[in-house]
Amino acid sequence: MSNPRITTATLGAHKRDGKKIVMITAYDALFASLVDRAGVDVILVGDSVGPVLAGEETTVPVTLNQMMYHGRSVCRGTTHALVVVDLPFLSYQVSIPQAVRNAGRVLKKTGAPAVKLEGGSRWAPTVRAMVDAGIPVMGHIGLTPQSLHVLGGIRVQGRDAEGAEKLLADAAALQEAGAFAVVLEFTSAAVAKRVTAHVDIPTIGIGSGLHCDGQVLVLHDMLGLYEKLAGAKFVKRYADLGTAVTGAVRQFADEVRDQKFPDAAHTHA
Ligand code: KIV
Repeated sequence: MSNPRITTATLGAHKRDGKKIVMITAYDALFASLVDRAGVDVILVGDSVGPVLAGEETTVPVTLNQMMYHGRSVCRGTTHALVVVDLPFLSYQVSIPQAVRNAGRVLKKTGAPAVKLEGGSRWAPTVRAMVDAGIPVMGHIGLTPQSLHVLGGIRVQGRDAEGAEKLLADAAALQEAGAFAVVLEFTSAAVAKRVTAHVDIPTIGIGSGLHCDGQVLVLHDMLGLYEKLAGAKFVKRYADLGTAVTGAVRQFADEVRDQKFPDAAHTHA
């Protein structure tokens, strides 16, 4: 029997059924097909592509064209997971009409059925306009990397009572605006638990503990391919592909220099 495509409605059903949602990032068709085969629910084409693949310091320089290129590649590599494409910095913040146009372009150019944007109540009217235009939206609150310069660095969000109340209000505003799910980044587990209980839409946590309705990790972090967050508490390394790649290429280099490659088995007589 074929494995049906996950939809935004599937995620809502998972929350109601108490079934945890699995989300992972991918930026290209090759990795997307590998993670799709592993049975994840959602593949996020994150703007983390800037730091992870393009060597940028932050996600701020990432462009809409970059996101559409990677989004299209990921969609080509998947048959099962719901693909969500990040809207990059300044593609939705300037005006609501421009936000709707840019989000619509992402859907048209990539074939992905949904987008994600960062921010809470302040962006609820933008989310509403997108949803009214037929564009499913995932929210993202807590630590929002596109606003890192305003937040003043990487730290746990919603630590004090006021901050926690703001996160509850942000999640509720996104739900009210029609968002189908919300990423909760870098909050305490206690606050994430409260937010998760407060809204009917699924919460997907990163660095926010066990009580969210699902979890997301950046694929290149968990595979040991991206070193910059290697020591971060919320990143669990499930493989060490970075070491494997460097080791394999070092062996190839040694064999070329020692004239051991190509050997008879890899040479046409
Ligand atoms: O860009 C990204 O990869 C993300 C995840 C960390 C949630 O937004």
